[in-house]
Amino acid sequence: MVVKFVVNSKKRAYKGPPFKRLIDVLRDDFGLTGTKEGCGEGECGACTVLIDGQPVNSCLVPVGQVENCKVETVESLGSSAELHILQKAFLEEGSAQCGFCTPGMLMTSLAWIRNGGSDKSQEIREYLAGNLCRCTGYQHIINAVIGAVREYKKAKARRKGLFLPSPRVSGERAG
Ligand code: FES
Ligand code: FES
Repeated sequence: MVVKFVVNSKKRAYKGPPFKRLIDVLRDDFGLTGTKEGCGEGECGACTVLIDGQPVNSCLVPVGQVENCKVETVESLGSSAELHILQKAFLEEGSAQCGFCTPGMLMTSLAWIRNGGSDKSQEIREYLAGNLCRCTGYQHIINAVIGAVREYKKAKARRKGLFLPSPRVSGERAG
């Protein structure tokens, strides 16, 4: 079977069993290894990607279900030369330790920001409740998202877009 969909603004066609998990197609067939597998059971959120703008656990989604959908992975965010507002905030707040949860945290946070989410700590905590982190104790992550929400709003007001340059980062992302 051929499943056609868009990944990070690029048209892709997957040939194979439609029940193969989306995470495996992304990582093994398309080489997009930024998306991580933690539990493989829909409990940890490490594998979160956006499907048509909504955060989804890609370990639970058969690829056949994303026919004609728009999938976004962490690779769609910025680069080391031009970090996304969220990546910059995570970096500055020290929000990644082992980094395993980070791609999923970033993608869920991206949905929050895009959907007009607030900078209220408790609301962000609730939205990110499906993303588990064993290292940070969450506060640094929440602080980063609060900062990113505020930056995003400012950037939007200035009509400068979502990306900010960052001269001091050599690695793209942890994990
Ligand atoms: S790996 Fe998908 S939710 Fe844990
Ligand atoms: S930074 Fe290690 S699991 Fe979150």
